[in-house]
Order: sequence, then structure tokens, then C-alpha cells
Amino acid sequence: MPVIYHEVSKTFHLYNTELSHIFKIIEPGYLVNLYFGKKIRDRENYDHLLETADRSMAVTFSDERTDLSLEHLKLEYPVYGTGDLRNPSLDVTAENGSHLLDLRFESYTIQKGKPSLPHLPAVYTEADEEADTLLVTLCDQKTQLKVVLSYSIMNLYPALIRSAKIVNAGTEKIILNNAMSLSVDLPDTDYDMITLTGAWARERTVRRQAVHEGVQSIGSLRGISSSNFNPFVSLCRKNCTETEGETFGFSLVYSGCWLAEVQADTYHTLRMHMGIHPQGFAWHLDPGDTFQTPEAVMVYSDEGLNGMSQIFHELYRHRLARGYWRDRERPILVNNWEATYMNFNEQKLLEIAARAKEIGIEMFVLDDGWFENRNSDHTGLGDWQCDRTKFPQGLGHFTQKLHEMGLLAGIWIEPEMVNMGTRMFNEHPEWVIHEEGRILHPGRHQYVLDYSNPDVIDDLFEKLDRVFEETRVDYVKWDMNRTLSDVYSMTLKNQGELMHRYTLGVYSLYERLIEKYPKILFESCSSGGARFDPGMLYYAPQAWTSDDTDGYERQKIQYGTSFVYPLSSMGSHVSACPNHQLNRTVPMYTRANAAYFGTFGYELDLTKMTDEETEEAKQQTAFMKQYRKLFQFGTFWRLRSPFETNETIWMTVSKDRKQAVCAYFRCLQEINTGFRRIRLKGLDPDQLYHVSVLDIDVCGDELMHAGLVISDQSAASNRDGQGDFVSRLYLIDAKD
Ligand code: GLA
Repeated sequence: MPVIYHEVSKTFHLYNTELSHIFKIIEPGYLVNLYFGKKIRDRENYDHLLETADRSMAVTFSDERTDLSLEHLKLEYPVYGTGDLRNPSLDVTAENGSHLLDLRFESYTIQKGKPSLPHLPAVYTEADEEADTLLVTLCDQKTQLKVVLSYSIMNLYPALIRSAKIVNAGTEKIILNNAMSLSVDLPDTDYDMITLTGAWARERTVRRQAVHEGVQSIGSLRGISSSNFNPFVSLCRKNCTETEGETFGFSLVYSGCWLAEVQADTYHTLRMHMGIHPQGFAWHLDPGDTFQTPEAVMVYSDEGLNGMSQIFHELYRHRLARGYWRDRERPILVNNWEATYMNFNEQKLLEIAARAKEIGIEMFVLDDGWFENRNSDHTGLGDWQCDRTKFPQGLGHFTQKLHEMGLLAGIWIEPEMVNMGTRMFNEHPEWVIHEEGRILHPGRHQYVLDYSNPDVIDDLFEKLDRVFEETRVDYVKWDMNRTLSDVYSMTLKNQGELMHRYTLGVYSLYERLIEKYPKILFESCSSGGARFDPGMLYYAPQAWTSDDTDGYERQKIQYGTSFVYPLSSMGSHVSACPNHQLNRTVPMYTRANAAYFGTFGYELDLTKMTDEETEEAKQQTAFMKQYRKLFQFGTFWRLRSPFETNETIWMTVSKDRKQAVCAYFRCLQEINTGFRRIRLKGLDPDQLYHVSVLDIDVCGDELMHAGLVISDQSAASNRDGQGDFVSRLYLIDAKD
């Protein structure tokens, strides 16, 4: 029973194997947080953790209780205007213009399992025993606005999942200006804040900064979660490393505009908020209406950042990603984007496909450029008709050929966009997000469709349905290549709802397509990884991690991405050299060694490879097939960071700890440098393993404590001529 209510002390205690969340109802009905952290034993009351004091300048609760001020309590879902002066979780405008709210406890229920969220992605359970859910209803007497706080404590994958439902149970209209998914107040501020920042082609750089007084916030106003900031924050102790120390992880299951805010006040308490970005948000709640926030996932680990990431990986891989492909090994693919860009015809592609088959590749993905008028990125988006000059016998003919060759067939789409000059644009200018009388701003020469309009969704469903029917595709890469601007809908009544309704529209189209085509493997994409977020994983179990396919940059991008997302979700390909983004040359084996730690594939013209390269690709493909399960479904450990050192080291270990593979990458060659070892993780200490490369038999304890010597002769001199961007894979296999 991991959700307990202690009647006498009015205390809720939610716990699983890792964490405890404890809060109580205090007179006259405020919900006050007492503890969030490592799991502690259950007791009847924790009242000694209730911190109250009579302080000057505080707005007090009453003349009798001058020691009680909302400013100095740790609150579960704070509002502004009745004493708490930190940033609120909820803000509304009532009909009379008032923003005041006084939320008091009304009731609670505890139920087995975890409810799904209407029209939103959400962590799910497969059996009721996997989770317990506490719903606490708070009510503002004057407006009869109710807030139902949802807490699902996950037992199998130890996380706490929170969201809020706002219900207008009164008789007046209310406008919702801000409704966070989670809020937590912690009793001290001695944390570092880790965020994943970046931009196009350098997504999810790991940044660590000390929390300081005031507000530190990250978020997105782009209409997508963005490559600039990922909807994730870790708050970790100063001494927390990859393998040791305490950390919290917060992750938002949402793909639109979002905000995460860490506020340290001058009394040394910390408030963490996460939810839909309030900028421009105004949701109208008529009497009887409800609004459901997206959900946020909270995890705790005292086994360092790897401990936190591993909880996210397991939860997201097994209980957020869904469907046919969730537990299946992902097909090795070749994608023609960097091979041909838009300059191709059917014959050229079939030549690449034939070579792919010979190499052992399992799927051909036809990227951008297959539809009418698409010879550059200035035109074509919106109509989704096959370009008969490239495919004289239609697209179905091409995919049939692929299927006959024994390859799976994949296709690229970008259904949220339209170009000027297309039939869609000309016939339905009102379907484009823009405000009449203002300049329409292009991005990549294209415009954003109004996904808050159900007619747009219906139209795209019909068009894509036709394409999927005709081609019988096995895989779809759903791209999204610009951020939203000119955010105004020609058909929506309440403009403050557009950004969120846009995201709901994306989710609804995904849902309809998945329902009709449950076996299609969707890969989400947004100019690479600009929408690599938990919300997307619910629909597409994998995402194109970055447009940057350079074998070295990829180490950083995949390292950062792994803070939250499992390897099975990371699209990773071997591309040609010199690399198209950086003009850099990294050996092919190193490019592959990075790409194995993901879904794996090739993104180059296979017909232009030399015989040696073709042979190497054959071996790589065979190797990936043999080890794919370990890469995609093993436990992943980060051991040395490319953001801090000249090396990247990571490993993955099978669930039964019988098999592991450790990858070592060195960026630049060094000369006359020190010897280096790396201590492996996650092995069975008593198990004897064979370690390839060194060709030694040693037990797990030795590998984990004495470590693996990873320096070689080149530590002393570069006589063996290894050079830059070298890498090695150590295959670690249990011996009987
Ligand atoms: C985006 C994607 C690429 C490719 C192109 C096609 O940039 O990230 O992988 O699909 O679009 O236009």
C-alpha cells in the first residue's frame, strides 16, 4: 500500500522502493509538504518536519496563528495573493478581474493503478499493482474552482507522476493563465541544477550550474519542446557524480511550449515548477469545464546521475513508449537524405536499396523529396501527392519493389507544414497560423498549419491515410522543421488556447494514425532533435536525435540525450565523410561505434562506398544484429563525459549481467600522457568474464573496482600512428 493516509495527523505518505513524498493537511485546509526524497519508513506522523515561525513582515494566516504564513510553508500547489510571495503554480482571472485564490483541502481518494489522461500522452500501467494513485481535491470557496492534484506512485519503475485537473464548479467564467503540472518545495537550496541545452545540430549539451537566490528558468516558446532546452531538470547535490550521490530528476511529458522554474528564496528554500508555459496562455473555463495539465515525472536516486537516468530509461521504454515496436529490436535502416537529398529518381533509390540488401540492412527509408514539386525546400509541402517524374509508376510501385527485395519500407512526412503555392495553401489560406493584416513570417520557406482546427487534422489524416494505404509502409519519419510564429488562428475563438491546442492536434493526428496502422514504426523528428521529448515517445518510440551525424559530435549529443531517454529511442546513423555538417573525417568504425548505441542505420550513398567500406558495413550490420538487444534494451551507464574530458566512455549491460559492451572513444590523440583506467559498472562481481581487445578473463569485481586499463602505447608516443577519433569496443561476456 504505497499510498497511506494517516487520519489522525492528516498526513499522506506516498512511497516506492526509492522515494517518499510526504505532505499533510493543516488547518484550515492547506496542503503542506513535509518531505520529498529518499524513501523513509512510514510513521503515523511527521509533524516535527512542519516548520513554522512568527516572522516580521509575513502575511499571517490569522491573528491567532501568527506563526503560520503561506510564505514560509512548503506548499503542494501554491497560489499567489493570500500570503505566499513566491511564484505560483496556478493563476486565474475571475469575471470580476480578481486573481485571488484560496485553495483548501476538500476530499481525497486513493485508487489502484494509474488513470490515463484524456488527449494527452501519459505513463501507463499494464496491471493495477504497478501503481497507486492519490487524487486530492482542493477548492476555492468563492469561485468554486477546484483543483484535483493527481499523484501516481509507480511501484515497478520507481517514479512519482503528477498532474493537475482544474474544474470550474462555479457559476462564473474563469480564465486560466497558468496551471503547472508539478510543484515541489524543498527545505534547502544546496543543489546544482543540470539542464540539457543546445540548438540545431548540437542538441542536449549537459550544463551544470549552482542554484542561486532568485529564479532560474528554462523553457520553450517555440510551439515544440525545442533543441534549445529539453523539458528536463535535475537537482543534484554538489558531490553528486555520474555514479554516486543524490539527485532528483524532473521531466515533463509534453511536446509544446513549456516552463521549468527553480526558485530559491532568501530563506533558503527551493521551489521547483514545471508545466505548460504561461506566456500567451489563457484557457477559458466556462462553468462545468475542466482543464487537464500534462503530467510530470519525478524521480529520486542516491546512486548518482546514472541511477536517475536508468529509472527514466526503464519507465519511458516500458511504460511511456507503446505499441508493436516497444519491445522489438529496431530495424537497421538506410536513409537517403544525406545520400541524395532531393535529387533522386526511383532507379537511383533502388540501386541504393539493392546495395543495402546485400549489406544486410533491413529497411529503406525514403526521406524528403518524394512528393510533387519538391526539388528544393521552397515548395511542395501540404499536398502529399507522389512526384510522378521521380516515381513514374507511383510510390506504391517503389515500396512494393522494396518489399519484394525483402526490405521494409519507410517514408518521410512533414504534415504540420505548408508551402506557398501548393493547392492546400491556395485553397485554405485560413488553415495557416497567422493574423490577417500582418506579415506572415516564413521559416525554412514554410508555414505552420493550424492544428487547433479539426478540419486541418481531418484533411491530413485523409491524405496520409491514402499514402500509407498505397505504400504499405512499415516506418514513418514525422518531421517538423520550424518553430511557430505569428501565433493566431483564423478559426479559434480563444487565441490564448492556440499553442496548447496545436500540441493536442499533433497528438490527435498521431493517435488516429497509430490506431489505424498499429504496426507502423514512427520516428519523430524536428530538424533533428528539436522535439525529442517524453510526450513524443508515447506516439513514436524513437526519435531522430540530431541532424549532426558527425561521429564525434554524436558522442556528446547521445551522452546528453541519455540523461533522460533510453538508447532504444535514439535514432543514430553512420554517415559519409567528410561529414556534411562539419566537414570532419572520423574513421568509419568510430562512426559505427557511436551509432550502435541507438537504433543504428546508414545515411549515405551506399553505392559510392569502396569495396572495403562495403565489407566493413556488412560486418557492422552483422555485429549490430548480434548485439542489438544488448544495445537497445540493456542497462546503460555513462562512465566518462565528452563535455569534461577528451574521452567518452559508456557501456551497456544485459539484464542478466551476462553480457556487456563498453565503448571507449578518444577525441584527439595525446602525446606522452598519463595512463588511464576506467571502472566499469553494473556487472556481477562474482562472475568471470572474458574481455575482448585485452583478451583476458577477469571477475566482475575486478572490472568494477580495479578497472579496465584503457590507455595504450599511444599514451607514451604516437608511434603506432593511431591519430584522432579512435575508439574501441570491449565485449564483455560471462564465462561458464
Ligand atoms: C530535417 C531532418 C532531416 C531531413 C530533412 C529533410 O532537417 O532532420 O533528417 O529529413 O529535414 O528535409
